[in-house]
Amino acid sequence: MEPLRIGLCGLGTVGRGVVELLDRNRDLITRRAGRELRIVRVASRTARPEVDLGGAEFGTDVAAVVNDPRVDVVVELMGGTDAARRLFDACLGARKHFVTGNKALLAGQGAHLLEQARAVGIAVGFEAAVAGGVPIIKALREGLAGNAVEWIAGIINGTSNFILTAMSRERRSFADALAEAQARGYAEADPTFDVEGIDAAHKLAILSALAFDVRLDASAVFTEGISRVTAEDIEYARALGYRVKHLGIARRSTGGIEMRVHPTLVPESRLIANVDGVMNAVVVHSDAVGSSLYYGAGAGALPSASAVLADLIDLARGNIVTPRLHGGQRVLPMSAVETAYYLRIPAVDQPGVLAKVAQILSFAGISIEAVIQREQAIRKEAGRQWVPVIILTHRVIEAAMDRALAAIQTLPEVVDTVMRIRVEPLDDHA
Ligand SMILES: NC(=O)c1ccc[n+]([C@@H]2O[C@H](COP(=O)([O-])OP(=O)(O)OC[C@H]3O[C@@H](n4cnc5c(N)ncnc54)[C@H](OP(=O)(O)O)[C@@H]3O)[C@@H](O)[C@H]2O)c1
Repeated sequence: MEPLRIGLCGLGTVGRGVVELLDRNRDLITRRAGRELRIVRVASRTARPEVDLGGAEFGTDVAAVVNDPRVDVVVELMGGTDAARRLFDACLGARKHFVTGNKALLAGQGAHLLEQARAVGIAVGFEAAVAGGVPIIKALREGLAGNAVEWIAGIINGTSNFILTAMSRERRSFADALAEAQARGYAEADPTFDVEGIDAAHKLAILSALAFDVRLDASAVFTEGISRVTAEDIEYARALGYRVKHLGIARRSTGGIEMRVHPTLVPESRLIANVDGVMNAVVVHSDAVGSSLYYGAGAGALPSASAVLADLIDLARGNIVTPRLHGGQRVLPMSAVETAYYLRIPAVDQPGVLAKVAQILSFAGISIEAVIQREQAIRKEAGRQWVPVIILTHRVIEAAMDRALAAIQTLPEVVDTVMRIRVEPLDDHA
């Protein structure tokens, strides 16, 4: 059979990984795909003479890759959205298949792009866009295709997980743990995209569109990052039997599909609560299987290349079907989402404060599950003595908690911003 001829755009971390993995496993990939996968042309902004391209032609103009009549499939590993979108449009025009790891492109414009691709009959593969080497797109589209998914909860940003793990293990501050993540190359100089949850929201939007048929649109995901979590929160959570994880959660509930990314208290007995460092993990709870867990390396050259090659092998076999996303399901507004809450209320250390807080919560219909107020946590600042009051609540809708927190925040005894972290049991029923 004729080889599948690949045009590779972007020779950075993942692009070089694809070249290396294809070279390393060429024989087994050929056997499994039923034909050879051959990179015939490469384009990237900067030449990388140190990379052995195995005879593929190199240039800096990605348009030349699409226009090369030998190329069957274009692999976009440049990142960003503008150049990637132009490349996609060129592929549409030239009827070339398109494989990408670009979650930002998909999360912003994916619904439209996939529709256009289906209309002209090109395949679009994007396994590398979520959780790197963990084949979660395939799990949803293939292995679990006969299930109704009830909820998904995932650690889908390795940088945030690395930072929370370092804060938890070594009781370090967020800033300190972030500095280490940057020094190790896990976080960018501007870490906003990762630590404020934007990257995780992109990935959750993709998973939600596949699993729940909501419109592929990251702007519909409620997004909160980890920058306000303190080592103290992590320690209190532990005392209450929980770990703090940055989760992307999508759930079918009455009234619509929940889509949210935020720090979350997870019971320490759950497998996902013990996923540490830069690793990724996604739990999918579906009607036939119950909970299934997908765990592994969420980034890096070879894990991400593994996902790109999985798409290319599918294509070589004639297997890739560009998803048909109807997007008909309604997204539940965050104000209507129901969760339990961890609250850290920095309050003046005097009698009656807890009673006032409890009264506000009770008035809002919120019941308390546990309270911690530690003598040894008392602080003296600016002539005042204050203490963090930790409260774990039962489940309540977000709008009720918003109202209660607004009232608590105005109490004269509350000396600083109240911290709230949502709590999820992630058991078979929730
Ligand atoms: N890194 C991961 O672990 C990972 C995991 C999953 C998915 N992804 C996704 O995969 C994509 C690539 O990520 P990466 O980490 O490999 O990025 P990267 O290391 O920054 O590599 C991007 C490459 O594309 C080149 N490039 C950028 N814009 C270009 C343009 N307009 N024309 C030609 N070449 C251009 C860059 O050239 P220069 O060398 O001149 O900068 C660089 O070689 C992104 O969408 C990312 O989100 C990455």
